[in-house]
Amino acid sequence: MGIDARNRAGTPRILVAEALTKVYVRGANEVRAVDGISLSVRAGEFMAIMGRSGSGKTTLLDLLGCLLRPSAGELAIDGRSVIGASDGELAAIRRERIGFVFQEFNLIPTLTAIENVMLPLRYGPRHPNGRQEAAALLDLVGLGSRAAHRPNELSGGEQQRVAIARALVNRPAVILADEPTGELDSTTSETLMGMLRGLNRDRGVTIIIVTHDAGIAGATDRVVRLSDGKVVADERSDGRGFERALYGEPSLNGDGLHNGTGGRVRVLLGDLLDRVRGR
Ligand SMILES: Nc1ncnc2c1ncn2[C@@H]1O[C@H](COP(=O)(O)OP(=O)(O)OP(=O)(O)O)[C@@H](O)[C@H]1O
Ligand SMILES: [Mg+2]
Repeated sequence: MGIDARNRAGTPRILVAEALTKVYVRGANEVRAVDGISLSVRAGEFMAIMGRSGSGKTTLLDLLGCLLRPSAGELAIDGRSVIGASDGELAAIRRERIGFVFQEFNLIPTLTAIENVMLPLRYGPRHPNGRQEAAALLDLVGLGSRAAHRPNELSGGEQQRVAIARALVNRPAVILADEPTGELDSTTSETLMGMLRGLNRDRGVTIIIVTHDAGIAGATDRVVRLSDGKVVADERSDGRGFERALYGEPSLNGDGLHNGTGGRVRVLLGDLLDRVRGR
């Protein structure tokens, strides 16, 4: 496979792309939507992908999530190449390792919110507590009282939150989220980012989020910028951009703990996650 699955410190590289390429051909027209991207993502990273409309963000996310097969290049997940994998093997990787939040929510219109959340469970081994877990996740995203509603009875932001609960139901190692806050107001975006941060910190879930919003990107640890299907920047950030934009500079007490509103919000979200986990 030719890809070193571990970095020097021994943290597993959960996703490794080398010269990953996706070319769409329409008649005589060729679009290099993803044009030779090399990228490696360590387990537990919280990363944003930014770039203008048409720069290849969704295509890259779909390649990383094995929803699309690349035209060329290498992709390894958990240290194993997926290039020669069968459709069934790719489906198993998607089912067991990856939670998707799509740019358009892709909820099933005839199913209720809780049934939509439970949908991924249909395809794996039996989950006797599936309904209970789905209900807890709907609570987590603030939709406990909407479990019986169908998508057309929910607002755009509520549908997106159902989609997020659905992405979490299989306890994925990686969450790939395409503009998950695009339809949300700033308060709901903040809650969502807090939830994702909590999942990342407490459960070690690797998160890759596509966003146009610099504040959202600033709340992650790493920002990759695309232009014309290529990576043009790959920068670390301190993950505090969103909080700073909302609350100003944090104040630190003697224990190094945050006293400001942002700190309290994090504590509240931590409590919420603990409740869902039954601690
Ligand atoms: N199925 C397809 N067939 C042909 N061209 C496509 C297809 N999907 C995407 N493209 C083209 O590939 C390029 C990258 O598209 P992509 O959807 O990845 O962009 P994006 O960065 O996600 O944009 P946006 O911010 O608008 O969602 C665009 O030029 C687009 O027109
Ligand atoms: Mg897109």
